[in-house]
Amino acid sequence: MSGKFKFPKNFYWGAATSAHQVEGNNHNDWTEWEKGNAKYKVKNAKFKKWPSHILNPPAGGPNPLQEKNYISGQASDHYNRFHEDFDIAKSLSLNAYRFSIEWSRIEPEEGEFNEQEIIHYKEVVKALQDRGIEPFITLWHVTLPRWFTRRGGWLHNEAEKTFLRFTKRIINEFKNDVSFWIIYNEPETFSRHGYFIGDRPPQEKNFIKSYRVLKELSQIYVKTYRLIKKLAPQLQVGFSEGLVYFEPYNKLPHNVLMMKFIERWRNNPFLERFINNSDFIGLQYYFHSRIRFNPFVSKWGFQFNENKNVNDLRWEIYPEGIYQILKDLKRYNKPIYITENGLADAQDTKRAAFIKDHLKWVNLAIQEGVNVKGYFHWSLLDNFEWNEGFWPRFGLTEIDYKTMERRIRPSAHAYRKIIQELTKN
Ligand code: BGC
Repeated sequence: MSGKFKFPKNFYWGAATSAHQVEGNNHNDWTEWEKGNAKYKVKNAKFKKWPSHILNPPAGGPNPLQEKNYISGQASDHYNRFHEDFDIAKSLSLNAYRFSIEWSRIEPEEGEFNEQEIIHYKEVVKALQDRGIEPFITLWHVTLPRWFTRRGGWLHNEAEKTFLRFTKRIINEFKNDVSFWIIYNEPETFSRHGYFIGDRPPQEKNFIKSYRVLKELSQIYVKTYRLIKKLAPQLQVGFSEGLVYFEPYNKLPHNVLMMKFIERWRNNPFLERFINNSDFIGLQYYFHSRIRFNPFVSKWGFQFNENKNVNDLRWEIYPEGIYQILKDLKRYNKPIYITENGLADAQDTKRAAFIKDHLKWVNLAIQEGVNVKGYFHWSLLDNFEWNEGFWPRFGLTEIDYKTMERRIRPSAHAYRKIIQELTKN
């Protein structure tokens, strides 16, 4: 493989997580919302056909028919076991790790900062540095403090002020130790699921509102970016967005037009505002979508993918898409970090090929002049996959949810081998 692959010398080889998905024992808007979601999902899960490996998950973990599957609880207990987890990351030859700081821990009540939690994250950063692993911190990854959402979340007139205050505190605490900052994780996904589809908190179904939230987020983002650069101009600051590779079903103009229309909305209508105020682009790639517009059939305007290869969540595996998106992002002339890319694969039969195939396309993009500087696999550990709960297994490392024992999956060793081959002199 190394004969064909040529990655830049100082490339970041990483894995990613987020606080609520792995830490355990959080108290935020999600922990409140999960309880209702658990009841609703269990009721609906009964009517679905589930493959037997999902109903009988590894190490007796929860399955989609159980309420506990949807309650984050102790999650992967990463909050207490981060040393062990970073030993795993090091043993896999990773030199970067992306994680998020949980705002509700740092500021559990408005304006009251918890010093102990700041110390905790300092220990996390130190544990990474001791192992030669570069920390990439996300300031906001999906979950929010309860006091913030109860009074109206991002649409409240104090949202900007409070997020900037939180940011200022964190940056001042960490600016000498952490160079890479991702202000938001997937703002478009947040506003679409929470305010339009309504399958995540605050569970609204209002297109206009989802647009307003995203617009507001983009404006607060710009101010946050400027604030960080003022506090510490040396830091590398950006955002992460989940971009879909869209194709028209064929070249007929109505399919092309429909595709362009959906692409504009789905790939964040404010994308340029984010990109114009960032030192790098954080790309998260999971989806490909072939759009066909036919008003006379019930599935008008929706995707007609071939789905030859899918993951446990039935998302199509389409490695070429990452190349197409990277080529498209080249015009912005900014460094790109692939801050997430991964799959739910409980049996670990597809992950090794998934990683290799995606890296093959990333490599091609690099050869064609795209400035890609890092790849973070999602995820280092099995974790709490939002409204789907624990059953989708995204980890390079399997978690036994009864004992919290960690087992490195074979695909993680395949990833390690690729990294080792590419980084040996
Ligand atoms: C999110 C992660 C999530 C992953 C898989 C990304 O959109 O940032 O939190 O677990 O996708 O769904």
